Amino acid sequence: MADLRIKIGTLEFRNPVMTASGTFGYGSEFDDFFDVSALGGIIVKGTTLESREGNPYPRMAETPAGMLNSVGLQNKGIDYFEKNIYPRIRQYDTHIIVNVNGNTVEDYTELSRRLNALDAIPAIELNISCPNVKKGGMIFGTNPAAAREVIAAVRQAYSRTLIVKLSPNVTDITEFARISEGEGADSVSLINTLVGMAIDVRAMKPRLAAITGGLSGPAIRPVALRMVWQAAKAVSIPVIGMGGIMNADDALEFIMAGATAVQVGTASFIEPLAALDVVKGIDSSLDSRGFASVSDVTGIINR
Ligand code: SIN
Repeated sequence: MADLRIKIGTLEFRNPVMTASGTFGYGSEFDDFFDVSALGGIIVKGTTLESREGNPYPRMAETPAGMLNSVGLQNKGIDYFEKNIYPRIRQYDTHIIVNVNGNTVEDYTELSRRLNALDAIPAIELNISCPNVKKGGMIFGTNPAAAREVIAAVRQAYSRTLIVKLSPNVTDITEFARISEGEGADSVSLINTLVGMAIDVRAMKPRLAAITGGLSGPAIRPVALRMVWQAAKAVSIPVIGMGGIMNADDALEFIMAGATAVQVGTASFIEPLAALDVVKGIDSSLDSRGFASVSDVTGIINR
């Protein structure tokens, strides 16, 4: 077996494979399929201070080699999470990371403060890249001054490992990776979805009630890979790569481009075992080519 352990901030992960927020519920939804503690980490659903209904339906649409979503951060809020979900998932022997959202800087900091008090949540993923909300989300992640302000405020409020999830809907991803590093983030994760839309030509209506949504799946992988490669060269904090990873070879592309870890997202909707298969596939691929550890190939194309 290859050594798959990686480090992000002060945290050691047993392997570099996590599940992307919004694609794996709270982990427990997959208990019937496999032992989710075999994963490096689970990024649970986007969470806000208050409960949210999300956007009107339809809010999912299939596209060639991908899917559009405009969920709008539906979730039951932090009170519900603390009382009903946290006790259920805290026993997992893997890192449970909460994806943090808000309308304002104060929302983000208050939620981060609340999560700082939960000892079984060792890290947060600060989501400044959701394209499906009218306040917060991508509005912070596409404006350098706003990104700087919210990351700095959350860094003050949150003492554990801080990952910032970046938007691809910018001209220069390296600017936002550098801002994250400069304001004290321990890692950046990228990419969130690309803004897209689709029209039902027969009905002559947009396929999503919100008209636009976030595109994910294999269609975005080459763009994601390019941005991960650029970000990894621009900063010294670890980069977590995602965007259309369907199998171990896809994951290794991101790792070879410089990602320390990866997240599997849309693939879990098609194959519940996808993330586990990626862990096993990375291990056997490294093993069969004589690499002792995943770090032997991390960023190998940049050496
Ligand atoms: C959503 O809930 O609309 C998706 C979350 C995200 O893209 O960050």
